[in-house]
Amino acid sequence: MSGEGTRVVRAGRREEWTQGIVSPPVWRASTILYESVAALRAGSGRDTHHRLFYGRRGTPTQWSLADALTELEPGAEATFLYPSGVAAIAAALLSVLSPGDELLLTDSAYDPTRGIAEGLLKRMGITTRYYDPMIGGEIAGLIGPATRAIFLESPGSLTFEVQDIPAIVAVAKARGLVTLLDNSWATPLRLPAMALGVDLSILACTKYVSGHSDVMLGSVTSTTEHWATLRDTSFQLGQTVSPDDAWLGSRGLRTMALRLDRHAASALTIARWLKDRTEVAAVLHPALADCPGSEIFHRDFSGGAGLFAFELAAGGEAERAALIDALDLFGIGYSWGGFESLAIPVDPARHRTATRWTRGPLVRLSIGLEDAADLIGDLERGFAAWNAARG
Ligand SMILES: Cc1ncc(COP(=O)(O)O)c(C=O)c1O
Repeated sequence: MSGEGTRVVRAGRREEWTQGIVSPPVWRASTILYESVAALRAGSGRDTHHRLFYGRRGTPTQWSLADALTELEPGAEATFLYPSGVAAIAAALLSVLSPGDELLLTDSAYDPTRGIAEGLLKRMGITTRYYDPMIGGEIAGLIGPATRAIFLESPGSLTFEVQDIPAIVAVAKARGLVTLLDNSWATPLRLPAMALGVDLSILACTKYVSGHSDVMLGSVTSTTEHWATLRDTSFQLGQTVSPDDAWLGSRGLRTMALRLDRHAASALTIARWLKDRTEVAAVLHPALADCPGSEIFHRDFSGGAGLFAFELAAGGEAERAALIDALDLFGIGYSWGGFESLAIPVDPARHRTATRWTRGPLVRLSIGLEDAADLIGDLERGFAAWNAARG
């Protein structure tokens, strides 16, 4: 297999879709015209994969991005695109769960994923049991007769615990359960989910795939076994992505390996610098020992990303806000994975039910493509404001 740089450059660029143009252009369509009634009838059916049928089923612009994501995930059958990461998570869950089923959901999950479990799934008669993200193979003890699926997020995008995916997958396979992984942080380039045995790998492509903070996009990549159900559920939900947004996703993808390297290198430099600051109690970066599961990170991941958090040694809400407000290069806003750095306050205690959050409030950083030295200078400004606020 070629190197990852080569793969992201070439993925999804089929010649019949590009016809000599380097990147598949934007094919906008709702209606597709047929030559005759016979051709129209022949074109119908559930499996319209890579065949123009009706705009909702996509055009080469969306197929190209979906195929590229499949090509980057060894062991995958195909990928469905969604208008956001949350839409991808909801569709993936709905494709495997039915009324009466139980879902095991990591306590470290992104809070809107919990929202789906507590809202949509609960209304459908699907129950959720939350589990300690560090549970590993002991998850076997939580499985009951109604348990159908296990949802993982590794590292947790708010608290960064690294889960033992192979141990959880081994239990799931032995008990006939489906595993779903929110792999938005690592992407298949840094964590090949399907090679580790995961059934459905979910990306908020809004983050690193797009990389430029200008588009909402999600994807689910599936094994052969689960593809038909995922595809049919997604068709029934009417999920479709605009070709313009898919094009932005493909454009971002071409530089993803390069960007991840830079995000990861700067994030590690800044995390190590933070570790030596007296203002900081702990740095929750998957590569560093403060972070639960860092040994699993070094075992399973081929590289890092730009998102991590740190815990302040003292002070409260006002001091933390003073630190973040004083930052100039870090914007204050949701999401992550873009070229620009971001900082937000995170209060994990509010989102825990299976485990108790024993650390204090956090500051989460998304490290962008600015120079690490400049970002460190900015954080120094932030700490000066934090110290001043403490009096
Ligand atoms: C880990 C994780 N998964 C999924 C999502 C949802 O993605 P989107 O914002 O595209 O709906 C996010 C968004 O922040 C996220 O952090």
